[in-house]
Amino acid sequence: MRSPDDDKRLAAEAAVAEVGEGMLIGLGTGSTAAHAIQAIGRAGMAIDAVATSEASARLARQVGIKVVDFARVDRVDLTIDGVDEIDDGFRAIKGAGGAMLREKIVAAASDRMVVIADGSKKVAAIGGARLPVEVVPFATAYVSAALRSMFCAVHLRDGGKTLTDNGNIVLDCMGAHTDDWDRLAGWLSTVPGVVGHGLFLSEIDAAYISALGIVTRLER
Ligand code: 5RP
Repeated sequence: MRSPDDDKRLAAEAAVAEVGEGMLIGLGTGSTAAHAIQAIGRAGMAIDAVATSEASARLARQVGIKVVDFARVDRVDLTIDGVDEIDDGFRAIKGAGGAMLREKIVAAASDRMVVIADGSKKVAAIGGARLPVEVVPFATAYVSAALRSMFCAVHLRDGGKTLTDNGNIVLDCMGAHTDDWDRLAGWLSTVPGVVGHGLFLSEIDAAYISALGIVTRLER
């Protein structure tokens, strides 16, 4: 019996075929990205990597990948990461794992970003998934009110107990529907206290989606 995890693994393994010797690879975060990290480790290629989370860095080291400090890196060849939702226009929501800020930074530094997912993540229109917003703890109440007044119902993830790798809290916006995601992303970036969000509107170059064991590669 095939499970969504089999499709995550198949999508990850297909994307890992893009990894070449000598590349600097950006490692995403989450269960699908973990399959990619394991596949890169198994391939035993001479690559260096930067990680988008402490969890991915730990896993990468466990499987024998050399992880370098991203603070010393200004350019990445290829990043492979997961998504929570992606539409036909390569607009995506990420951050269920809370790593969206580092994921966005590493994606911005990457010559190419490919995402990997099981078929349930491919949607006609993004907005069904919660939209995570990373916020400096000092600004929790202020940003919550700003998000509520503008566009969505707000939940403080884990009641504020779980912090991101950057020491910040995550506000999850539910029901964030808009006709203009670019405008919403632009507005989010202007709210003091917001340091990141899970809207990836222009970063993604290609997607490997596996449904019922069949992997489809979509190129922007
Ligand atoms: C973490 C992410 C993940 O890539 C995204 O949530 C997908 O996770 P999974 O592969 O476990 O379904 O953005 O911040």
